[in-house]
Amino acid sequence: MVSGSGGKARVAVLASGTGTNLAALLRDAETPDAPYAVALVLGNRQDAGALHKGRGAGVPTVAVERTSWGSRAAQQAEMLRLLQEHEVDLVVLAGFDQILSVDIVDAFPDRIVNIHPSLLPAFAGSLHAIAEALAYGVKVTGCTVHLVTADLDAGPIILQEATPVRDDDTLETLSARIHALEHLTLPRAVRLLATRRVKIDGRHVLLLAAPSPSAAAGP
Ligand code: GRF
Repeated sequence: MVSGSGGKARVAVLASGTGTNLAALLRDAETPDAPYAVALVLGNRQDAGALHKGRGAGVPTVAVERTSWGSRAAQQAEMLRLLQEHEVDLVVLAGFDQILSVDIVDAFPDRIVNIHPSLLPAFAGSLHAIAEALAYGVKVTGCTVHLVTADLDAGPIILQEATPVRDDDTLETLSARIHALEHLTLPRAVRLLATRRVKIDGRHVLLLAAPSPSAAAGP
């Protein structure tokens, strides 16, 4: 990949909420060795914290609200237009609370990832996966970064990180640990995709090793 933005992959982040995962990506993208740049932030709520974070970082940031566009189809057609206008290579769903249109999914084959706060397939499709895991009594939970396909939360898994559930965990303590894991895992996954180190074989994703510096330097 590694195409636009000074040889870096151009990443769009779609978010509806607070935007702590967006903030983690913005931080990571600022490090000199980052193989990607956040080129666009799209939201579907004007007042979302994520949009404030995008604007604060000086990234082109647009709210495409469904109510302003009349229908989900028109809203998502506008989102697709913006993704194409900004020459985006990768799309990251970081707490985006709408299902993407087939047109968007088809426009970025194996180039859209989502982060979900559970070990998928557990608690797939849930907007309250952490609370549900706690209520269910699972002993281990975590987060998953997966490719987005037509099936909700069911695309091939790129990375998962786990945390034990403690007897005294509350929604707050468990959420804090999972979010801390997310903020490490999502940038890692984006780096892997940006450097084409993700090989997809059906449901299976192979993560390729980074080329060694000596190999890159050549003879
Ligand atoms: C995260 O827990 C993510 O897994 C889920 O939505 C949440 C977004 O949090 N899909 P934030 O807005 O990035 O803080």
